[in-house]
Amino acid sequence: QATYLSDYRPPAYRVTHTELTFDLDPAATRVKARLHLERHPERTAGEPLMLDGEGLTLEAIALDGEPLEADEYSQDEASLTVHRVPERFHLDTEVTIAPEANTALEGLYLSSGMYCTQCEAEGFRRITFYPDRPDVMATFATTVIGGPGEPVLLSNGNPVERGELPNGRHFVTWEDPHPKPSYLFALVAGDLKKVEDAFTTASGREVTLQIWVEEENLDKTDHAMASLKRAMRWDEEAYGREYDLDLFMIVAVNDFNMGAMENKGLNIFNSAAVLTHPHTATDAAFQRVESIVAHEYFHNWSGNRVTCRDWFQLSLKEGFTVYRDQCFSADTNSPAVKRIEDVSFFRTAQFAEDAGPTAHPVRPDHYIEIGNFYTLTIYEKGAEVVRMLANLVGEEAFRRGSDRYFERFDGQAVTIEDFVDCMAEASGLDLSQFLRWYSQAGTPEIDAFGEYDYAKAEYRLILRQRTPATPDQPDKQPLHIPVRLGLVGTKSGRDLPLTLEGEALGSDAVIHLREAEQEFLFTDVSEAPVPSLLRGFSAPVKLRFPYGREDLAFLLANDGDGFNRWDAGQRLAMLALDDLIAAHRNGVEKVMDPRVIEAFRGLLEGEPEDRAVLAEMLTLPSEAYIAEQQPLVDVDAIHAAREFMRQGLAMALRDDFLRVYRENQSDAAYAPTPEQIARRSLKNVALAYLMAIEDEDGVALAREQFAADHNMTDVRHALTLLTHSSRDELSEPALKAFGEKWAHDPLVMDQWFAIQVTRPQADVLERVRFLMEHPAFSLKNPNKVRALIGTFAGQNRVNFHRLDGAGYRLLADTVIELNRLNPEIAARLVTPLTRWARFDESRQELMKAELERIRAEELSPNVYEVVEKALA
Ligand code: ARG
Ligand code: ZN
Repeated sequence: QATYLSDYRPPAYRVTHTELTFDLDPAATRVKARLHLERHPERTAGEPLMLDGEGLTLEAIALDGEPLEADEYSQDEASLTVHRVPERFHLDTEVTIAPEANTALEGLYLSSGMYCTQCEAEGFRRITFYPDRPDVMATFATTVIGGPGEPVLLSNGNPVERGELPNGRHFVTWEDPHPKPSYLFALVAGDLKKVEDAFTTASGREVTLQIWVEEENLDKTDHAMASLKRAMRWDEEAYGREYDLDLFMIVAVNDFNMGAMENKGLNIFNSAAVLTHPHTATDAAFQRVESIVAHEYFHNWSGNRVTCRDWFQLSLKEGFTVYRDQCFSADTNSPAVKRIEDVSFFRTAQFAEDAGPTAHPVRPDHYIEIGNFYTLTIYEKGAEVVRMLANLVGEEAFRRGSDRYFERFDGQAVTIEDFVDCMAEASGLDLSQFLRWYSQAGTPEIDAFGEYDYAKAEYRLILRQRTPATPDQPDKQPLHIPVRLGLVGTKSGRDLPLTLEGEALGSDAVIHLREAEQEFLFTDVSEAPVPSLLRGFSAPVKLRFPYGREDLAFLLANDGDGFNRWDAGQRLAMLALDDLIAAHRNGVEKVMDPRVIEAFRGLLEGEPEDRAVLAEMLTLPSEAYIAEQQPLVDVDAIHAAREFMRQGLAMALRDDFLRVYRENQSDAAYAPTPEQIARRSLKNVALAYLMAIEDEDGVALAREQFAADHNMTDVRHALTLLTHSSRDELSEPALKAFGEKWAHDPLVMDQWFAIQVTRPQADVLERVRFLMEHPAFSLKNPNKVRALIGTFAGQNRVNFHRLDGAGYRLLADTVIELNRLNPEIAARLVTPLTRWARFDESRQELMKAELERIRAEELSPNVYEVVEKALA
């Protein structure tokens, strides 16, 4: 059942124009389609016409107006074949579908009483018979017919006609002049209200901007609208890309499998990725909304105008667009913090994916279910690969290359080579070795060694690279890896000028590692340096260097690169944590490394230049990140070690944390500005340390912060700290008050669920079960599943990995139920179980047993593919 990249062929017939009519009904929506088709010039005449179609009831079919006889076509559960067709023709079909029964949330479905669609990757085939592949691009004309319950009827492009029909029904016809693949089709119908604004493009086109929401959410759209306008301007300035229709719409829906979808002119968003209000959304949510709004908008060029030839090229649009939204957020907020956040997430989650049974290259070469490939590797590693390209060719060549790409391939469905070729042409660089980043899975590891020769004033750096084997890729080849570095003088505390092979490179340079082992000799190095390697995370690799703790404390204080200063702090904490983990395992007394305390004291007592970066520096590596660094994950030792260190720091630096809290506490009206966000993060990090030792002043401040009810960032943080404390009299009243106050708001209730299921207390699993029965919970809503089950299994590591296997059982039970309702979400949810190989033997056995239990069910292709790989 697998599809292979090497089997690619252009379609036998292409669609030039598509006319659709939807007569909406929850149980039986009628979809009429007229497809204007012609033979593909590269395919021979006389081939049958094959259309994709799943779960459709065919009511009528005609070719050039003549109804087809039963023997002129055939059907199976995935397709419809017309045996004989001419060179050019039109095909009419009529089908019925049942949106109300669609719990998979692919195709046309109902969400809170409103019709909406999700067609990427292969949802359009659940709407009508069609060559449902991205290299078939057609113009669309869509008529939507609704009743009194659907005053608003939306689709792609521009509305061209509307009118009344008998029986209280009405219609709107939409035309999208830009040829597009079926995955970008969208339809929305329901009782929606809009907020409207306008944008004038650089060349003077007036664009109407609309955000459509349920009435009670009309006050939660300001930030998304402002973000959209910033993104539109940014894409003009940074990439010379203008919007190309008179109307741009965003719709918020409550039931959605992912974050959002870039349908042409009609972006559909998970309500969690668009709605914000100071009282309901945290700073992190505000920033997430800004970046997702930008991401989907940027797809209008990187994805829609230039799209993917086939789904193996998914990262062509996703990796590039994530890179674009990362740069946008960096420009709009604090660039250093944005990079730190992205990299810590990447090194935790993508590295884990690369090390597990579902590891795959940025461009996979086969899949069973493409829905399983919307992964961190395709998105985030894909973005890292584009970032490396940008750094390799330089800013100007990168812009010339992207201009060339958009111009040359406008209106086409292309490949990753097409993109990289444009960059090679624009820069004159040979990128053939670089292309391996797209085909080779796994995280490359670099072992670095350095030696300073005082007499010769030389620094010799040796870099060795290797990429561990991944499933079905046992042998790996060396990659072209850009390593940005500096040498920090131990006497001066400054970045030293770099001279490599006689060439002066400045004090911050990129060296190119291409061989398995390579030596770099820096000359005229006037003092003994500590190397600062892989600055800004210049390549998605693991880098090891035998740093001593003094070296790391030195870099933390002196590195010229802000990102690497943070990274040095993380490395220092990791070394100390390793000791504590070992002590815990060996049952000996844990001792706090004073160097960590002194390093933190230095940070707390220094002048805070960038409070947001400081907050990151004061945050210890997460349990998931620490686990990623261990050969064998001992969840209990990791948790105990990290808690010990948090408490040690809190006891030693209590007064500093209290002072920092007070200095950054403010009553100013909430705004999601970088300045305010930085102060809130710093103050809340300080509060978390105080609560780690349940300091009485800290407890009082947390209660005050909760009661003050100033903004959701502060309220949620305080509630989390109270809920995670060991004292029920702190947690229970606060949880109850919050739950009652926000019972009407599903997005806030998601946070209420997440806060409770991350409690460290041993009885939390019983609480998860209890909350699954809560009226606000539903297995049919992906946000709820993620908030309750996903958060528990992904973030509450000690309790999910309970030795009695109850955590695993709960997850498997949920996966089995969801496999029937929503296969895409079920396949994602199973992820933590697939990582069994990282744990001790008894946990391995328990996890595998649950995977076996899932495998014994009748499985969707999605869950089947993941579970098969995990047990292979
Ligand atoms: N293209 C969307 C985005 O990243 C994601 C849609 C994925 N849909 C899915 N059913 N897997 O912007
Ligand atoms: Zn995307």
